[in-house]
Amino acid sequence: MNQVTIQWDAVIALYILFSWCHGGITNINCSGHIWVEPATIFKMGMNISIYCQAAIKNCQPRKLHFYKNGIKERFQITRINKTTARLWYKNFLEPHASMYCTAECPKHFQETLICGKDISSGYPPDIPDEVTCVIYEYSGNMTCTWNAGKLTYIDTKYVVHVKSLETEEEQQYLTSSYINISTDSLQGGKKYLVWVQAANALGMEESKQLQIHLDDIVIPSAAVISRAETINATVPKTIIYWDSQTTIEKVSCEMRYKATTNQTWNVKEFDTNFTYVQQSEFYLEPNIKAPYF
Ligand SMILES: *[C@@H]1O[C@H](CO)[C@@H](O)[C@H](O)[C@H]1NC(C)=O
Ligand SMILES: *[C@@H]1O[C@H](CO)[C@@H](O)[C@H](O)[C@H]1NC(C)=O
Ligand SMILES: *[C@@H]1O[C@H](CO)[C@@H](O)[C@H](O)[C@H]1NC(C)=O
Ligand SMILES: *[C@@H]1O[C@H](CO)[C@@H](O)[C@H](O)[C@H]1NC(C)=O
Ligand SMILES: *[C@@H]1O[C@H](CO)[C@@H](O)[C@H](O)[C@H]1NC(C)=O
Ligand SMILES: *[C@@H]1O[C@H](CO)[C@@H](O)[C@H](O)[C@H]1NC(C)=O
Ligand SMILES: *[C@@H]1O[C@H](CO)[C@@H](O)[C@H](O)[C@H]1NC(C)=O
Ligand SMILES: *[C@@H]1O[C@H](CO)[C@@H](O)[C@H](O)[C@H]1NC(C)=O
Repeated sequence: MNQVTIQWDAVIALYILFSWCHGGITNINCSGHIWVEPATIFKMGMNISIYCQAAIKNCQPRKLHFYKNGIKERFQITRINKTTARLWYKNFLEPHASMYCTAECPKHFQETLICGKDISSGYPPDIPDEVTCVIYEYSGNMTCTWNAGKLTYIDTKYVVHVKSLETEEEQQYLTSSYINISTDSLQGGKKYLVWVQAANALGMEESKQLQIHLDDIVIPSAAVISRAETINATVPKTIIYWDSQTTIEKVSCEMRYKATTNQTWNVKEFDTNFTYVQQSEFYLEPNIKAPYF
């Protein structure tokens, strides 16, 4: 009998694997009904009940069995009536599980599959905060990001709302993480309100509104170091030459350098006029690694 049970487990596992490949456990032909209270997607840590009701021709089930991820459950099963049993879980913490149930029918050698269901647990989304939109120079995109907060474990979608302050026209973009919005589609002037709505099966939250001006959010492209030379003198002097890739004037630039013997980066900030090839002079201590912008 034990051997048969093991075989059956293998068969049902393969069967379920096969069903998943073809569109989920819900696609299997059910001889009955399985349902979850309070819901198939629920808040992590809840107590849940899974009900299984058999509707098998010519079968008054002797016993009903529950399986979670292919493993037979042995505790917390209550037979409610002739056709239905309930499995109870306290403080359910798994983000995903596949449940199915079977019946032992008289005169049947094997258990008969009743039905299966995928269940999920997670959290409602946090309020999205730190909404930030930038345009990397020459990218043609406005990239908006935000802090989504804690992991929800379940499918969570974000709707980015972009509303022109001039035309009042509002556009919405659906995404699962950040969003790139083509700058060509921002035809409603320079000023916009941006906010993010987060939603999943357990709840919905909305961020505060961010006001942006397209000219203020451009991130200039990085400068390219073309050459560095060190001049021998009483005090060693290093000259860094760079080419600016940006067309924006009056940007502030910072340079970082460090000694190979010291983990700390030294940062030097300066305002520049990028119309011409730049150079700048540094008096560095010995053992300085190539600087970075
Ligand atoms: C489910 O039932 C339908 C119709 O009775 C049948 O065509 C199909 O092959 C069955 N699928 C499985 C996986 O048994
Ligand atoms: C789950 O059930 C236990 C025992 O019955 C109870 O103490 C606990 O409060 C319940 N938890 C929730 C979240 O309902
Ligand atoms: C058995 O219990 C289930 C769940 O409470 C109910 O839906 C079903 O109608 C009951 N069946 C019978 C035959 O009483
Ligand atoms: C702009 O965004 C689009 C859509 O996300 C992407 O296909 C494209 O590569 C981005 N452009 C650049 C320059 O990164
Ligand atoms: C979005 O745009 C940024 C910058 O233009 C680019 O690096 C990134 O690959 C883009 N992402 C997608 C998904 O297109
Ligand atoms: C700098 O001086 C050192 C020692 O006097 C010498 O070895 C080195 O070649 C000089 N470097 C240059 C670029 O002149
Ligand atoms: C490393 O550099 C920092 C900043 O210049 C300096 O304050 C610190 O004393 C240096 N540490 C060592 C071990 O030289
Ligand atoms: C940038 O520098 C050039 C040459 O020194 C000068 O002609 C130009 O007016 C400067 N531009 C600005 C915005 O300061």
